[in-house]
Amino acid sequence: MAVFVADHPLIKHKLGLMRKHDISTKNFRELASEVARLLTYEATKDLETEKKTVQGWAGPVMVDVIKGKKITVVPILRAGLGMQDGVLDLIPGAKVSVVGFYRNEETLQPVEYYVKLAKNINKRMALILDPMLATGGTLDATIRCLKNAGCTSIRGLFLVAAPEGLKRITEAHPDVDIYVAAVDERLNENGYILPGLGDAGDKIFGTK
Ligand code: URA
Repeated sequence: MAVFVADHPLIKHKLGLMRKHDISTKNFRELASEVARLLTYEATKDLETEKKTVQGWAGPVMVDVIKGKKITVVPILRAGLGMQDGVLDLIPGAKVSVVGFYRNEETLQPVEYYVKLAKNINKRMALILDPMLATGGTLDATIRCLKNAGCTSIRGLFLVAAPEGLKRITEAHPDVDIYVAAVDERLNENGYILPGLGDAGDKIFGTK
């Protein structure tokens, strides 16, 4: 697996703004979308293209078109929805596959409560969206769900990751590529990333 940590000044600046304790819902939501858009640019840099001839204004002209698998974005409910629009701005034709998990309080394991995947997911590249890669438990469950459905090409886009979650995913899924705006210091005892962003879902939905 490859882990790509963004080094773009715009991404760093925008993430810095998102860390402020008194950021408004509006600003947090807009910035989550903007950083998702910039991460999408990075995560699609290596897509293969092929030549095609189209009729241009002065006659036939060779253009580049993206070749290979079509894309499905996979927001993890609910916070992943806050990244969806930014990604779809750049890949407007992508299908949306949605997954949701809750935590079983006895086993502490994620349990699926909603899964609706795009048709022919085995022929698509999946871009998983979640602002926070914390323990990696939900991400691991999402990747397993996609693999069980036949998906063989999986990338994940995150605003902030904890080293603990990254380690877990890189060990369990060496075939999945991770794109992240920042890798922070650690998880606290409640599974929140430090310094992190706080509860990204609450901040995106204005429920804090
Ligand atoms: N989910 C969040 O929203 N924030 C964290 O820091 C970890 C998980």
